[in-house]
Amino acid sequence: MSNYHIKHLEEYYQVYRKSVRNPEVFWEEIAEEHFMWRKKWDNVLSWDFTKPEVKWFEGAKLNITENCIDRHIYTRGDKTAIIFEPNNPDEDAQHITYRQLHDKVCRFANVLKEKGIGKGDRVCIYLPMIPELAISVLACARIGAIHSVVFAGFSSSALATRVKDCDAKMVITSDGSYRGSKTIDLKGIVDDALNDCEGVESVLVAKRIHSEINMKEGRDHWLEPLLEEAYHDCVPEIMDAEDPLFILYTSGSTGQPKGMVHSSGGYMVYTAYTFKNVFQYRENDIYWCTADIGWITGHSYIVYGPLANGATTVMFEGVPSYPDYGRFWQIVEKHKVTQFYTAPTAIRALAKEGVEHVENHDLSSLKVLGTVGEPINEEAWHWYDDNIGKRKAPIVDTWWQTETGGIMITPIPFATPTKPTYATLPFIGIQPALMDEQGQEIKGNQVDGRLCIKFPWPSMARTIWGNHQRYKDTYFSAFENKYFTGDGALRDEVGYYRITGRVDDVVIVSGHNLGTAPIEDAINEHPAVSESAIVGFPHDIKGNALYGYVILKETGESRNHDNLRKEINQLITEQIGPIAKLDKIQFTSGLPKTRSGKIMRRILRKIASNDTANLGDTSTLLNPDCVKEIMDGVL
Ligand code: WTA
Repeated sequence: MSNYHIKHLEEYYQVYRKSVRNPEVFWEEIAEEHFMWRKKWDNVLSWDFTKPEVKWFEGAKLNITENCIDRHIYTRGDKTAIIFEPNNPDEDAQHITYRQLHDKVCRFANVLKEKGIGKGDRVCIYLPMIPELAISVLACARIGAIHSVVFAGFSSSALATRVKDCDAKMVITSDGSYRGSKTIDLKGIVDDALNDCEGVESVLVAKRIHSEINMKEGRDHWLEPLLEEAYHDCVPEIMDAEDPLFILYTSGSTGQPKGMVHSSGGYMVYTAYTFKNVFQYRENDIYWCTADIGWITGHSYIVYGPLANGATTVMFEGVPSYPDYGRFWQIVEKHKVTQFYTAPTAIRALAKEGVEHVENHDLSSLKVLGTVGEPINEEAWHWYDDNIGKRKAPIVDTWWQTETGGIMITPIPFATPTKPTYATLPFIGIQPALMDEQGQEIKGNQVDGRLCIKFPWPSMARTIWGNHQRYKDTYFSAFENKYFTGDGALRDEVGYYRITGRVDDVVIVSGHNLGTAPIEDAINEHPAVSESAIVGFPHDIKGNALYGYVILKETGESRNHDNLRKEINQLITEQIGPIAKLDKIQFTSGLPKTRSGKIMRRILRKIASNDTANLGDTSTLLNPDCVKEIMDGVL
């Protein structure tokens, strides 16, 4: 019998030891007993981090949607799979049962086929958090098409970049979206993006806000009539365990976003197993993750992980502040949510509004609370624990990444004693290592270093779409034979991990990864700008905010700096999206550079954070004088 459900700390240690002593045997048991395979694997694992190449369950055949939908129809066909909670609390929630989900996914899959989509084709999904988003993701998986969901807050040019990078044949969108009191013209954004994407043959449009939109003859199709006509059953495409399931873009510290490619078999096994244990999901629980399906958290822990376990998963279309700051808690009360998973930035924003928004809601259904996306500060942790969990619901601070596919370091609720700001212990099968700058592993406790993973796990990304070399360079070249996460971490006296933050040029703003280089590229396109450097600085609500240092081509008082700031942020909004806007923009005549011409961001970070007591030795810089100028002008 495999250890599918871990219930106490000793069991955790025992299963953990087994999983690292003999990973193949361990994962084979989990895979065999809890999933539906059309054919078993020839080999559990082969790997070589120098190439890098990792294969799990090689030779196995499956379709992930049979695991997420079909097999549940016999045992829980009338159970709710998805609860859709609309943006507006006056609109009725929808309860979609497993049987209905099967029907909807099959019809959608047949529409995709009819529009010429087949196995291996890329389909870009640009939808708000409405049921069609989850359904279209599953419909792609049903026929073996590779979905690439782009968060519907990205701009048209960010969307175009992603559509082109994976050469998508189709885009799925809606006439628009609701966000709090606003509506957003998604279809207009898609139209702009597609001016520049020749490979897209068709666009499917879901109706959500009933706005007047432009439909391009021959290319654009309303979804509803097609779904109505489509046949309600669709034989699943039988996939190889290693066939790509999806691409999801994440920001790199430089250049283009990276299209992380996830597999079918390993991804399914790991997301399902982590979901079960990290949230201690039981049959009649109502699980809610507030993330957007446009991010990895939504892929793994709104769609695939929960559905593979036959769970009821809530999808919320709106925002925490609409119609008021009690909205999350009203939803918890309304649907009797048992597991609630959100981001530190949301907790901080809600804590700031005061407990009165919490107090008039019954939160007694909650059993487990989770956080993800960035380090959670102690104050926010306690606010969450005291006011939401009432000190009875353990908080799982889950550390992981788009690249890792599933949760990597986390407490197991009711088993691992929690500790504020600590993600605590590696999940089953995960072998972390802390490395020093010389590339040596730091053993023992009470140490800190760069966080790496020493051994493959089933849901790790297999490559970067179209650029395997970049995959190798980014993740497998910094430390020999190890996956490098880009994060720093410390390990305390009992072996608990605390993530200290990124050690590369990625800044996490409100839980969103933002590479600084693409933002600098956007700014530098402004005709008045000659050079720029972006760094993160601490922010009460967002965790980090962005600070830009900008050198103008012509200095002097002739230019209105406030207007320039607006124009720069406008440019960033157009090129990347509003999430990447700068909080502060300082104009300067120089940027501190090393003798080889590299910008010393470390110094800029310290100045932006008002931490100038020990800037270190600046005398070796190419232009030490500019440091004083920047310090004098700090905002
Ligand atoms: C950060 C999100 C501290 C980290 C699932 C990581 C965290 C990046 C935590 C990945 C956490 C995520 N504590 N930091 N619990 N969770 N991070 O790809 O820097 O959007 O590398 O995946 O978020 O962000 P991504």
